[in-house]
Amino acid sequence: MRVLHSIAEMKEERRKLRGTVGFVPTMGYLHEGHLELVRVARAENQHVVVSIFVNPTQFGPKEDYASYPRDTERDLAMLKKEKVGIVFMPGAEDMYPARYSTWVDVEKVSERLEGAVRPGHFRGVATVVAKLFNIVEPTKAYFGQKDAQQLVVVKKMVTDLNMNLEVITVPTVREPDGLAMSSRNVYLSPQERKSALVLYKALTLAQTLWDKGQTNADLIRREMTALIESEPRVAGIDYVSIADAETLEELPRIDRSALVSLAVKIGKPRLIDNIILAS
Ligand code: PAF
Repeated sequence: MRVLHSIAEMKEERRKLRGTVGFVPTMGYLHEGHLELVRVARAENQHVVVSIFVNPTQFGPKEDYASYPRDTERDLAMLKKEKVGIVFMPGAEDMYPARYSTWVDVEKVSERLEGAVRPGHFRGVATVVAKLFNIVEPTKAYFGQKDAQQLVVVKKMVTDLNMNLEVITVPTVREPDGLAMSSRNVYLSPQERKSALVLYKALTLAQTLWDKGQTNADLIRREMTALIESEPRVAGIDYVSIADAETLEELPRIDRSALVSLAVKIGKPRLIDNIILAS
């Protein structure tokens, strides 16, 4: 496994690769969810490149950029076990040199849900992902369904900018009790970890109501919200959304593929999760 720290090195190595390249962009502090992306990439491609870069431009001024969990040694050991060929770990000064001034703004889909609560977040995500795609030149790039809106934004960017790659969605990996894997789960105290299950319970409730024939999205949102509010450690609900899976516009009635998503604060940590109800 080669670990490359500069854009120039990565580009040089890329020129030498023949055949398909599967790319998994990450911010490190890897878990089973990331490893699943790597495994799918490995099964579908001749080469696998994983990037580890905690991207400063996707964090708001009051967010956890400085304290975002990092453990490079552990990450590299995990990737070596998965037989990854190249790990790309650029420095922030290489990615965003002095006087950097170009940004990718994917309008509308970036403005809702996470974008409404975290202004500028998806501008940072789209910009860094576009840069990484230009540097790594992958055949296919792999993203987890857990960050559903990120996937919608990245797919729209790839279509709108005629980028020459395929974006692959990999299902969310969950703990045995249903909690979606996330690098930020490390922030949960043991009590909060138990309470965090309410996100999965609310999504399961939506699925059950939908399976029974309920299509009234307002009613499902209300039932989900009531369930979440009944959990004492819930410190706030940013949104409970049932939206068109492509445009992310809220639906009054589920008459097409719907993204059911939610963002909830359990104590201090803020967790997101989602499911798709396919019509
Ligand atoms: O999902 C993430 O870890 C990040 O948003 C990504 C795609 C690596 C961009 O920084």
